[in-house]
Amino acid sequence: MHQRTQVGIVGCGPAGLFLAHLLHRAGIEAIILENRTREAVEGTIRAGVLEHWVTELMREMGLGDRMAREGHFHSGITLQYGRSRFHLDMEELTGGKRVTVYAQHEVLRDLIAARLADGGIIHFDISDAAFHDIETTQPRITFRHADGREDALICDYVVGADGFHGPGRQAIPAADRREYSKTYPFGWLGILAHAPTSWHELIYARHEEGFALLSTRSTEIQRMYIQCDPQDDIANWPDERIWATLHRRLETIGDWRLSEGAIFQKGIIPLRSFVCETMRHGRLFIAGDAAHIVPPTGAKGLNLAVADVLVLSRALEAAIRRNDTDGLDAYPATALRRVWKAERFSWMMTTMLHRDDAETPFEHRIRMADLDYLAGSRNAQAALAENYVGLPFEG
Ligand code: DHB
Repeated sequence: MHQRTQVGIVGCGPAGLFLAHLLHRAGIEAIILENRTREAVEGTIRAGVLEHWVTELMREMGLGDRMAREGHFHSGITLQYGRSRFHLDMEELTGGKRVTVYAQHEVLRDLIAARLADGGIIHFDISDAAFHDIETTQPRITFRHADGREDALICDYVVGADGFHGPGRQAIPAADRREYSKTYPFGWLGILAHAPTSWHELIYARHEEGFALLSTRSTEIQRMYIQCDPQDDIANWPDERIWATLHRRLETIGDWRLSEGAIFQKGIIPLRSFVCETMRHGRLFIAGDAAHIVPPTGAKGLNLAVADVLVLSRALEAAIRRNDTDGLDAYPATALRRVWKAERFSWMMTTMLHRDDAETPFEHRIRMADLDYLAGSRNAQAALAENYVGLPFEG
């Protein structure tokens, strides 16, 4: 048994789904393979901030209806440290750009529904996806369906949009990969709670005890994070301890109070930075978390994945339609220029806002000066805002 398609994609996350949609719009057929079930993909809780151009892209692709109704459009963010809080008016600082707070799994739900409605094929719940013959003009992906049946996709091009642990990156020979990584001594404990809105925009807080972030999902559901030990067990965090920590870290200004509610989801994630140079081998291309990881501070993960596949979709279109492979040759370099800028921004936001016990007193003072500079300089604010809403694309 085998199926033919122009582009075989492993991974039904933001990179794989946006790519399939962009290719479909260009008249190119793609099939997505995903090892999780549709319910698991649609239920995985991740970040929720879309850069300005991602929101526009979703609208332009006809995928923005529910986001327009249920998303929250934020024109600024609040930064807090010590006993001060300041507002960064991103819309004003960037000449009219905003971000959209709309959870990643809601984006995925919308994209999956639209893909299936368009007649697109997504095989969920598969296993053993493996790339073959990627140095030839007919690369293949072999896999096993949920019922155990073996199958293969014969393709013109194949894409690993399969996350950090997927087979995509591993299919590039180790000798051709240069990998860069940094592990932070921090974790994030994230919660979802049925609680009313506490503040009209996101609050990023540096407290002497550690970082805290107040985000939202709707007027009834709030998303919050606290810095914790990455090895910590969630069992050590009963709800009372989570609320006490959030109150301490966020309520340092005036008489402002955080609203509480029932916590219905909680988990701990480690923070790391990772980049794989290159993002291609033969006719295999990797995109999103398969190629790079950012720590969550600033919420760049999804945005970067979509940026990769926007570049990749144009390059695949030129190669398939016009036999012009220059874009494919340039894909790793083009994508990585943006990737490194997002890595820099996410690292900067992370180090500026977290408590690090390994930091020297000198470094600690520098971090506080970073925040002081930001609070008082329009130029520093404009630089942060430009990155936060999404850097412009270079040619
Ligand atoms: C959210 C996550 C982030 O990492 C961030 O920087 C802002 C918001 C969120 O999940 O809402």
